[in-house]
Amino acid sequence: MNYVILSLLFCLSVVEAFNLPGLGPVTYQKGDDIPLLVNHLTPSMHFHHKNEEGKDISTAKKYVVHSYDYYYEKFHFCQPVHIEKAGSSIGSILFGDRIYNSPFQLNMLENKTCVPLCESIIPGKDAEFINKLIKNGYYQNWFIDGLPAAREVYDKRTKSSFYGNGFELGLVEIRQTTGDKLLPDSVHDISDLAKRDAKNLVQNLIKEVEVPYFVNHFDIVIEYHERGNGNYRVVGATVNPVSIARKSAGDCTPTGKSLTLNEEEDNNVHSTYSVTFVPSKTSWVTRWDKYLHVYDPKIQWFSLINFSLIVILLSVILINSLLKALKSDFARYNNINLDDDVKEESGWKLVHGYVFRIPKNPMILSILVGSGFQLFLVIVCTVFLAAIDILSPIYRGALPTAMIILYILFGFISSYVSMGVYKFFKGPYWKVNMLLTPILVPGLIIITFLALNLFLMFSESSSVVPAKTIMTLILLWFAVSIPLSVAGSLMAQKKCHWDEHPTVTNQIAKVIPPQKWYLKTIPASLIGGLFSFGSISVQLYFIYTSLWFNNIFYMYGFLLFSICLFTMTITLVTILFTYHSLCQENWKWQWRGFFIGGLGCSIYVLLHSLFFIELKLGGFTNILLYMGYSSVVTALIFLVTGSVGFLSSMFFIKRIFSSVKVD
Ligand SMILES: *[C@@H]1O[C@H](CO)[C@@H](O)[C@H](O)[C@H]1NC(C)=O
Repeated sequence: MNYVILSLLFCLSVVEAFNLPGLGPVTYQKGDDIPLLVNHLTPSMHFHHKNEEGKDISTAKKYVVHSYDYYYEKFHFCQPVHIEKAGSSIGSILFGDRIYNSPFQLNMLENKTCVPLCESIIPGKDAEFINKLIKNGYYQNWFIDGLPAAREVYDKRTKSSFYGNGFELGLVEIRQTTGDKLLPDSVHDISDLAKRDAKNLVQNLIKEVEVPYFVNHFDIVIEYHERGNGNYRVVGATVNPVSIARKSAGDCTPTGKSLTLNEEEDNNVHSTYSVTFVPSKTSWVTRWDKYLHVYDPKIQWFSLINFSLIVILLSVILINSLLKALKSDFARYNNINLDDDVKEESGWKLVHGYVFRIPKNPMILSILVGSGFQLFLVIVCTVFLAAIDILSPIYRGALPTAMIILYILFGFISSYVSMGVYKFFKGPYWKVNMLLTPILVPGLIIITFLALNLFLMFSESSSVVPAKTIMTLILLWFAVSIPLSVAGSLMAQKKCHWDEHPTVTNQIAKVIPPQKWYLKTIPASLIGGLFSFGSISVQLYFIYTSLWFNNIFYMYGFLLFSICLFTMTITLVTILFTYHSLCQENWKWQWRGFFIGGLGCSIYVLLHSLFFIELKLGGFTNILLYMGYSSVVTALIFLVTGSVGFLSSMFFIKRIFSSVKVD
């Protein structure tokens, strides 16, 4: 009986975990409530402030990682009578969404002006906290009928306006101050040259001071589309954040002055909002188009295409040279005159009795390869589904949720490959392999994740993943992933024939002659990594901004293309290095294959993530968190690339040794 209840609960939590909001259109009639939900506050990269002349300038700030719950006590935002969590999928929770209801009352087609929301008292200490976040460019993220409340941004480059994701918590004005006191009094009786120097000195002393303004009024504009019969749909939502130093409570008339929170004393803040409904020709189906706008100047399609062409060209040249070398090798090996008993053999054929020897730690290597390949397939499949528009950024959390589902299902593949590789090595303990594969890497991931989560709990961030989500994940792992994994191992044990080697292996190991420096593992992996990292580096920028700064990532087609290039480069580079070291009679290729495929590339990824953010400004917690997440990402990339490298050299070696005659 207990079991039934438990499994029912389990099913319920799973169903809830995979619920994806935003799937279907909602039709409203005049006066119907339109839900306005609030999500966490996130740092943003596109940060607009006003300079002295009141002009908008935009700078990119990138050093904060924390996000905060909307109802975090220090904000003192107006609250609804009951705060309720809105349902969101497991993926979106894992990636930081914390969605709640709000006190805003939006009714279809009812324009409202200056509706008072609430009065809150912000003590000086909390004002200091808020001012800091304003200066750091924090954004509010709301959803109106499932659409992110946007800020209309004008793109000078393409001369069109588009919707940025979210809007500012506060506005910042940059004022300039001079430090005239530092100018020496005796300036008038020194030479002209010295005067000029002094003038330069003053110029250098001009300091920019950022003055934060707190937003206490929201101009909400909702675009609606009429469908006839009094039915309407929401097709756009923008918020213009305004900061007003009010003449009296609840007065929205512009005073020309903005509200600054005083850090010394309590601040009385009155919040208000206005709603305007404007008709729009946009239909519900295309309502997302304005959000998915290419607006970053760093997107240079030209350079992207150029770069890909270079990679492809290089690959073609390398493939060509490798094929030529192999062809002449085969011609040489397979045409040896039988009467020629001196048989001057050289090159990779010499090591035919050693290449299939068992490497050091075959168990760990096979498990790493299996787990890496599983992740590789998860990434490729998810990106493919996104590229053909099945998983769209429109459905919040669909992508990470799909990733989790695929990861759980692909436990089967992980174990199959792990067991296959272990059999290839002719390792003796296949049952240990079967047990360890589903536990080792997923276990490590979960432990790291829990440790980071524990740390987040102490640092008051809203990124803490709720215990329920973690329990669901662990349950899924035990109930679905591990059984699938065991099935995969058993299947490989019966059906996988990677252990049939084309040559006979010698019992006694052969001494490896001294190697050229660039063929040693670390230099080789650093050189190889340049190519593989190069083919993915342009995409990394966008992935990072969407992970850390809440930008919407949507160029999945291009990402898929980059991943293909990436895989191709790793395969090619590893095979080349393996081939050349075999020619140098180095037959220990197994771990080398893994490292050449993965080490260099992941080192570059780690370095890239270090330079991506201005770490020194982040504060200890942020740095630790950022480093934590970056190391996890790097480790996973290492697994994926390493396993691709290993598998490609494994199949390459099997292939070439089965094409030569060995007596
Ligand atoms: C709301 O205000 C806008 C802008 O002033 C106007 O175009 C629109 O017709 C108004 N809508 C209603 C339902 O009054």
